[in-house]
Amino acid sequence: NNDLYSLYHGLLLPKISHTDKSLKYFESFQVQDDDVIAVTYPKSGTTWMQEILPLLLNGGDLTPVLTIPNWDRVPWLEESRAAEAAKKLSAPRAFASHMPYHLMPSSFFSSKAKVIYVSRNPKDVLVSTFHFHQMASFLHDPGTFEEIADQFLAGNVIFGKWTDHVKSWRNTDLGDRILYVTYEEMIQDLHGVLGRMLLFLGKSMSKDALNHVTEHCTFKTMKQNKMSNYSLVPKDVMDSKKSAFLRKGIVGDWKNYFSPELESKFNTAISEELKGTDITFPLG
Ligand code: PPS
Repeated sequence: NNDLYSLYHGLLLPKISHTDKSLKYFESFQVQDDDVIAVTYPKSGTTWMQEILPLLLNGGDLTPVLTIPNWDRVPWLEESRAAEAAKKLSAPRAFASHMPYHLMPSSFFSSKAKVIYVSRNPKDVLVSTFHFHQMASFLHDPGTFEEIADQFLAGNVIFGKWTDHVKSWRNTDLGDRILYVTYEEMIQDLHGVLGRMLLFLGKSMSKDALNHVTEHCTFKTMKQNKMSNYSLVPKDVMDSKKSAFLRKGIVGDWKNYFSPELESKFNTAISEELKGTDITFPLG
């Protein structure tokens, strides 16, 4: 897998989108006080946030989400597109990042920038990861579900262990600069979560506008949006015949993949690593 990944502070990163140059840019990135950063472990709700944030920050104007691809609209700070994409953004800017807390650029810590941290049941993250590995040529062949599960638990996947990521963002010094939301509560009550996000961001919008934004950010609508469904990516990079990027968008698909043995092994391994923290995940 040396051809596909490089090692950055112990984390595997896909070479296609992470270069020495982009990581240098990331490290010296100048965070602004009114920036908002959506932080996620991969497959936890990044694309969803890339749709939601511009709409909440601009009063619900659909223009950016219908005209700019998600990766340029809310660029990942650590990716090679960030430098060019950031130049085109106007304040307040929204970014995405898969980085753990301790690797954030130093300007982030002295800024007032806000973070929305989205987490998802790691079992559903794993299922989504399994399919993503099948369709993305820049990730290794996942093998069987059991095989990718072992690699996931060992942290031999991009951005390392799920538990390390959620733990790193849990007890931060960020105080009221960070809002935690879960993929599951967004599925259950997107309108409610968007309301909380608006309050957190210090923004407001009319009831009608919020209803409209909520409708625009449903899985069904986003799947039709060319600027967000990854259909603009060439087939040799992402093959939607193998799996769609916006695949199922549901909670609990893991039940279709986990054997009882794997479920028990997975629960034990994750619980062990979360011992002493207040982080929980659905066991059954
Ligand atoms: S990535 O590669 O890290 O950017 O992937 P990420 O966007 O974090 O995660 C992809 C999964 O999020 C689902 N998704 C959604 N679910 C529900 N509603 C909406 N609007 C939505 N947008 C994206 C997407 O379908 C992937 O999950 P799975 O389980 O594979 O369907």
